[in-house]
Amino acid sequence: MTGESRETFGSKMGFIFAAAGSAIGLGNIWRFPYLVGMYGGAAFLIVYLVMVAIIGIVCFVAEVSLGRHTRQSNVGAFKAIKPSWAPVGLIGIIAGFMILSFYGVVGGWSIYYFFKAIAGFPSADPGVCGDMFGSFVSHPVSPLIFTALFMIATIYIVYSGIQDGIEKYSNIMMPALFVIIVILAIRSVTLPGASAGLEFYLKPDFSKITGETLLAALGQVFFTLSLGMGSILTYGSYLSQDENIPSVCTTVPLMDTLIAFLAGLVIFPAVFAYGFEPTSGGGLVFITLPAVFSEMPAGILFGSAFFFLIFLAALTSAISLLEPVVAYMIEEHGWERRRATVIMGSIIFAVGIFASLSNGVLSGFKIGGMVLFDLLDYISGNWLLPISGLLTAIFVAWVWGSDNALQEATNDGTVEFAWGNLWANVLIKYVAPILIAIVFLSSIGLIKV
Ligand code: TRP
Repeated sequence: MTGESRETFGSKMGFIFAAAGSAIGLGNIWRFPYLVGMYGGAAFLIVYLVMVAIIGIVCFVAEVSLGRHTRQSNVGAFKAIKPSWAPVGLIGIIAGFMILSFYGVVGGWSIYYFFKAIAGFPSADPGVCGDMFGSFVSHPVSPLIFTALFMIATIYIVYSGIQDGIEKYSNIMMPALFVIIVILAIRSVTLPGASAGLEFYLKPDFSKITGETLLAALGQVFFTLSLGMGSILTYGSYLSQDENIPSVCTTVPLMDTLIAFLAGLVIFPAVFAYGFEPTSGGGLVFITLPAVFSEMPAGILFGSAFFFLIFLAALTSAISLLEPVVAYMIEEHGWERRRATVIMGSIIFAVGIFASLSNGVLSGFKIGGMVLFDLLDYISGNWLLPISGLLTAIFVAWVWGSDNALQEATNDGTVEFAWGNLWANVLIKYVAPILIAIVFLSSIGLIKV
């Protein structure tokens, strides 16, 4: 595919909504609040914000610049600069494939819970809600129906292309998501008894910051900003030549951070107002919140809005997980977009079937002590993303050269990039690779912080 015929986003806002759509997902609405709860409330928030600035935005600029410069997605981008680095792009493709196969399952849960919320959640007892969740996700057939619906929506949007698919739907879904989350946050913080939740979420206790907090924050920065697998690189390759990279690369992480912050404002005040515990992980959103909504006045309305919000957020992230895989088949194997989308989307769904079944009938099959669902999450999150993120940072800084990257990021010096020199000489060269390496080595247990 030549540079001339390649599709681009139609507008700056189109890119921003699509990239924000990629970034804002389950990572913000489910994972972020639970990490905040676990790692010291506002203290975690502050550490996280610093890391978004010194590593998240830094790597974001690197991926977008590499994509736009080469006008290629993952594998092609590395190849265009140094062919021997093409396998780094391939790690990202494999990571995207694995993430989407279980992400699609959770996306399916959000659709099911949307319908459940409309019908009204049955009980304010988290035990009952926990049983409801457990029996749904372990059922051999029903979650698959919803995963199929979710994957069909994902495939349909990517199939429709950049402007008529990803950009068009992101432009509708992202503002809708924003409106819903603001309404929900207002509802939550005005509930009687909300202040205990606000205190838990916003009053910093710096003594809670440990090495583990720093690791959790950095891992979250990567996951939530969609870094390390080429989602952002690929979207960057569709960014037009005259757009301002430093500006879009700050706007998107800020929007992502704002939505994560609002998700905490939705969840903690409501959970505390009804006297529940801010329990961890999937339980918070799929077990505790249904109990909360069954108590809340107009809980049907707010509950269904909440699960619709999760659905929208997951969908715009899922399309960004599928797009690099599809772009790879188009660019490197000459496939046509529609064929690539349908075939790759279906294979990912097929793996997703086994991931879903591994929560139920196949739960006896374990590899390394983990069922397939957890294994896909573990290998992609703890190994593939950090390795490819680290190699991407090294590649941009040292192989392509951070001065060349800076030229691209500033449109040959014509747009302002206030901290451009710091970015090129310090942050992308040393700070980002060293910190990512530390997180990676400690997440696989090779070093202790
Ligand atoms: N950032 C998304 C979320 O927070 C998930 C996601 C989309 C992602 N593309 C990615 C994570 C690429 C890592 C890498 O839910």
